[in-house]
Amino acid sequence: MSGHSDFQPSNPVVKWIERRLPIFGLMHAQAFAFPTPRNLNYFWTFGGILTFCLVAQIITGIVLVMHYTPHADFAFASVEHIMRDVNYGWLLRYSHATGASMFFIAVYIHIFRGLYYGSYKEPRELLWMLGVIIFLLMMATAFFGYVLPWGQMSFWGAKVITNLFSAVPLVGESIVTWLWGGFSVDNATLNRFFSLHYLLPFVLTAVVFLHLWALHVVGNGNPTGISVKSEQDTLSFHPYITMKDAFALCLFLIVFAFFLFFMPNYMGHSINYQEANPLSTPEHIVPEWYFLPFYAILRSIPDKLLGVVAMFASILILFVLPWLDTSRVRSAKFRPIYKQFFWLFGINCVVLGFVGANPPEGTWLLVGRIATAYYFIHFLVIMPLVGIIETPKPRPTSISESVLSKKPADGGGGKDPAAQAAE
Ligand code: HEM
Repeated sequence: MSGHSDFQPSNPVVKWIERRLPIFGLMHAQAFAFPTPRNLNYFWTFGGILTFCLVAQIITGIVLVMHYTPHADFAFASVEHIMRDVNYGWLLRYSHATGASMFFIAVYIHIFRGLYYGSYKEPRELLWMLGVIIFLLMMATAFFGYVLPWGQMSFWGAKVITNLFSAVPLVGESIVTWLWGGFSVDNATLNRFFSLHYLLPFVLTAVVFLHLWALHVVGNGNPTGISVKSEQDTLSFHPYITMKDAFALCLFLIVFAFFLFFMPNYMGHSINYQEANPLSTPEHIVPEWYFLPFYAILRSIPDKLLGVVAMFASILILFVLPWLDTSRVRSAKFRPIYKQFFWLFGINCVVLGFVGANPPEGTWLLVGRIATAYYFIHFLVIMPLVGIIETPKPRPTSISESVLSKKPADGGGGKDPAAQAAE
């Protein structure tokens, strides 16, 4: 699905290139003329916001590296040097750290948008699955990045998570030694994590290209879940979507700036301002907020190996989501029962987040176990069953009908009141 491009360059240089490599025509078809459903709401602006976040993280990261030292003896001090001595180093570092949190806020909104509007359903299954790969890569990148300042939480977080692999029968201990590059989390570990933290964003970028390619083959979904049927249902990407995305990005940047300038450490842990000390274990080892629900699942299961399996399964289950949901109706707007369960699932994820932030004992442990069970029940029982038993609400026959029927009673033409009165 690409826009009808009647791109005719007048500039002789562009003409010359276009005859040999039709890159401008391609860009025109995909980023200007690309037909986009006319009823997209603001939840569809988060893809663009995510693209911005990815580019911003790469740029701030590359400049940070110019002053950072990936060595266990110097890493912590080099970050302090960036904060205190490098011109605008504080801004650079806080942009990157707060940027990571903002990136995750945006990706969670993007994923939950997909869950609500059934964006993962036919024909967007592969687009969704590429999204899940992106999500996994984002988590790996954030995990490696958090180790780099070599603070207490960096060190102990790395230790806890890498140690999980020791639960693998027979070869577990060897895997952990191999991951560490030695017999404890040390300089070799920091170095390889640094290397991977630099590498993965570029792998991520490549997968984002596939994600967007898949998007441009099947086209955007939309809040009604009804497929595009005629030209009347769509608008060209430019200027309509580009302007709307730009406006949404400005709003997002206001929130970003608020955290960046007024509470840059709000989403982090103060203990990471203490240098890593292998001889002093912090009282609570807690990951960054965006990992908390998964951390809760890990700790809710009494067996270490099963806990690790459940944690990975809670993400990998998203790959088969298109086949677990048996409803043919995409959007939850027309699915009265699924809609309730969607909100319950959202609340359950927030509960898991709180559980992950607290010690796994007493009431927290019990709540964590119930919420973990519910997480899997949602996907494995509720989604398949609700799709079968639910009677969906009637849907509009087309996207343009759904838009025009919302307009005032002037027939949708949007005539001005004076003209109407004159008639
Ligand atoms: C770096 C991360 C990501 C970037 C840059 C990105 C980019 C985009 C863009 C630009 C769009 C089109 C606009 C929109 O629908 O908002 C889109 C659509 C979509 N994305 Fe992503 N995405 C990312 C992560 C993810 C993840 C983690 C998932 C799911 C697990 C996902 C699933 C989808 C789906 C299903 C659509 C189609 C939605 C529809 O049109 O109904 N994306 N993405």
